[in-house]
Amino acid sequence: MEVVVLPTYAEMSRAAAAVVAEVLNEKPNAVLGMATGSTPLGLYQELVRKHREEGLDFAQVSSFNLDEYVGLQPTHPQSYHHFMHENFFKHVNMAPGNIYIPSGTTSNYQAFCQWYERRIEECGGIDVQILGIGSDGHIAFNEPGSSLSSRTRLKTLAKPTIDDNARFFERPADVPIYAITMGVGTILEARTLVLLANGKNKSSAVAAMVEGPVTSMVTASALQMHPSARVFLDEPAAAELKMRDYYDWVMKKKPGAPKT
Ligand code: PGA
Repeated sequence: MEVVVLPTYAEMSRAAAAVVAEVLNEKPNAVLGMATGSTPLGLYQELVRKHREEGLDFAQVSSFNLDEYVGLQPTHPQSYHHFMHENFFKHVNMAPGNIYIPSGTTSNYQAFCQWYERRIEECGGIDVQILGIGSDGHIAFNEPGSSLSSRTRLKTLAKPTIDDNARFFERPADVPIYAITMGVGTILEARTLVLLANGKNKSSAVAAMVEGPVTSMVTASALQMHPSARVFLDEPAAAELKMRDYYDWVMKKKPGAPKT
């Protein structure tokens, strides 16, 4: 796992966007794994800027989103369909037919989940998966206790996640309690993982993910098993890391390392 700590949210977002842009420049028909939430907004803004100002091309790109709330129509302002359209897709030149987001309104969740997994495979697998982390250490909606080899499925959300999400809904009764989510096993099959975390409220989840044991109680800790996981943090999110000096040292020495 590579841990990169940057002074600000903006720098963290730019560094993560550079990784995604590098993949797209090398492979114009790359498959991206997309995440929602407040964390990746800066990354999406930077990718949009690169598209507008530097010609970063999404014409052949496909994308698969991690998750969606069950019961929300794609047009619902809090649906992840709506989020992705407003914050990213409508600003770049992706082909609508190449955009995949789990359905929160299918009549057959099991069949949909199997189809979603098959589509990822048929598209060649995910090249770079963008991730956030929940304050309970989840990735996507893989709540504590989720199998580390889980696949795309329906999931009941944990209380802390429902509470975290409540700020986006008018009434507590409106906050969804089920979601459809890629599994930890699905996520681990992406060729590169880019996880972002910012803010003090993520610092203990980040420390558990990077330096704690691999456990289904912190599904983000499964990143320790991935051969190419890159974690981008701002200072407050990195506050509880014990090996912080080493991570900084590694990054400082990286340019001089023998080329592999
Ligand atoms: P956030 O959500 O980016 O809104 O903090 C992250 C997550 O729960 O995965």
